Amino acid sequence: MPVQEIRHPLIRHKLGLMRRADLSTKNFRELAQEIGTLLTYEATKDLPLETCSIEGWDGSVEVEKIAGKKITVVPILRAGIGMLDGVLSLIPGAKVSAVGVVRNEETLQAHTYLEKLAPDMGSRLALIIDPMLATGNSMVATIDLLKKAGCREIRAMVLVAAPQGIEAVRNSHPDVTIYTASIDQGLNARGYIIPGLGDAGDRIFGTK
Ligand code: URA
Repeated sequence: MPVQEIRHPLIRHKLGLMRRADLSTKNFRELAQEIGTLLTYEATKDLPLETCSIEGWDGSVEVEKIAGKKITVVPILRAGIGMLDGVLSLIPGAKVSAVGVVRNEETLQAHTYLEKLAPDMGSRLALIIDPMLATGNSMVATIDLLKKAGCREIRAMVLVAAPQGIEAVRNSHPDVTIYTASIDQGLNARGYIIPGLGDAGDRIFGTK
């Protein structure tokens, strides 16, 4: 199950708003976080639970808690930061592992310039966040480095995915599931997703 397009009405509505060229930076930013929250809900749906006994208001009671692995959220800088608060609103205790990847706009190849990972990566579920899965080069480079650091369970959440990016991840890392708000048509000659959102980093940070 390498890709799941989450066709929830709230997600589709919010993504539709984000596609408007005249949307303000503030609104674009808010919507990226909100969809980040909704994708987190879906991407964590099957986390295993365990029961434990606690002291409740009327004595001992059995409750459930998430079992096993701790979670690290992995924003791919810079645009991944635009979904981070949305994810942390549901998983406030997660450690954040920042990965800096920049793509060469001519070759579209990914260059990793920063790696600030949480401790014990081998015992964590990694949730990678990046708004745009275009060629897939940045995502594949990030998964490569997480696996090198010992990560064994990795999921990715993106706002928009191109079929080329999904294929690239599927070829290199078939064990990684991608959760996306939309699978779009494809890429233009400059590696931008069509219809896409434009440059998500610029739109989140207001740098264009
Ligand atoms: N990065 C973006 O921000 N947008 C795209 O369409 C592709 C890569």
